[in-house]
Amino acid sequence: MTTTASHPAQNAPSPLALVPFVSVGNMMRILNAVGVEAFIEGLAAVIEEDFRRWPLFDKTPRVASHSREGVIELMPASDGVAYGFKYVNGHPKNTRTGRQTVTAFGVLAEVETGYPVLLSEMTILTALRTAAMSALAAKYLAPADARSMAIIGNGAQSEFQALAFRKLLGVDRLRLYDIDPAASRRCARNLEGFGFDVTVCSSAEEAVEGVAIITTVTADKQRATILTDNMVASGQHINAVGGDCPGKTELHRDILLRSSIFVEYTPQTRIEGEIQQLAADHPVTELWQVIAGDAPGRRSALETTLFDSVGFAVEDFSALRYLRGLLKDLPYCEMLDLLADPDDPRDLFGMVLRASSSG
Ligand SMILES: NC(=O)c1ccc[n+]([C@@H]2O[C@H](COP(=O)([O-])OP(=O)(O)OC[C@H]3O[C@@H](n4cnc5c(N)ncnc54)[C@H](O)[C@@H]3O)[C@@H](O)[C@H]2O)c1
Repeated sequence: MTTTASHPAQNAPSPLALVPFVSVGNMMRILNAVGVEAFIEGLAAVIEEDFRRWPLFDKTPRVASHSREGVIELMPASDGVAYGFKYVNGHPKNTRTGRQTVTAFGVLAEVETGYPVLLSEMTILTALRTAAMSALAAKYLAPADARSMAIIGNGAQSEFQALAFRKLLGVDRLRLYDIDPAASRRCARNLEGFGFDVTVCSSAEEAVEGVAIITTVTADKQRATILTDNMVASGQHINAVGGDCPGKTELHRDILLRSSIFVEYTPQTRIEGEIQQLAADHPVTELWQVIAGDAPGRRSALETTLFDSVGFAVEDFSALRYLRGLLKDLPYCEMLDLLADPDDPRDLFGMVLRASSSG
């Protein structure tokens, strides 16, 4: 337990000062205890539950601050009982200096008092929730017998994607491609022992041939064309994860024009997703409608389906909610002295005064 006193004179913070904090180390302990695939399965179930009650969420497109090198975003959501937000960045050039492209942390709070009830690392949690979301969408949209998947872009998110699709859909054949062959080799090595049949490919064209699902999860701060129209066969499901900012896309526009497009939250995806390439009224279906049974998912074996994923705040809310539930049985958090708690709530200054006089 990590605590520092907000009542230095009394030498211990009061219970109201303390907020559970899940560090990166503890997140890894939780994952080891639960198992990555079981964690993803549990998280997907919570996301599914929250998508079913989508209309009651207080939602807004994320607040994004763009720069030449990347983006920093705040992602809030509330179901009226709890409120969550995530801080997340996206800086494709970071890996050149030994940093992650994406890092994140987040907070869950109770609406009634506004007091935080959980603070957590969310870099690993984002990879888990993105993978859980992708596989959950594919459960409704991919061909029923899908067992094979191409993963284009074999960076930080890639193994999580593979494991999520194995757990939720039974995908056990992977075709990997990355412009950096070392990334594909690392991904293949990390997945050894998980029972996949893995082929490392030398082009995106080679990777997508004959697979049921194509996942694009590349990082580039530009309009890239990872897939062109001729590369996508009728009936394939595309899980497009990497295009998630204005001016940052992965698919050629022609693919979008012949696909059935599913999104998380339309106002945000119009700004950030692949559909930023289309007219503002191009028809799309929000995934929650499919999950709630209000709209069809895949309608035929020949339909090309596209999950235009950008990552939405409700998924992070679900992830924090799921994590909080796990902490009831697992001891892997520290208590942080995060909230000032003077003896008299209106005597904040007096608390500071007493701390300085007690040295
Ligand atoms: N939709 C979501 O919810 C969501 C969530 C998390 C991350 N993302 C996005 O996913 C992307 C990947 O994230 P990451 O953390 O794995 O990044 P990463 O930097 O760890 O990995 C990206 C990989 O893509 C490869 N790549 C770049 N251009 C390529 C190309 N033209 N063809 C093939 N491979 C290429 C890079 O070599 C690298 O290995 C980022 O763009 C990130 O913003 C989206």
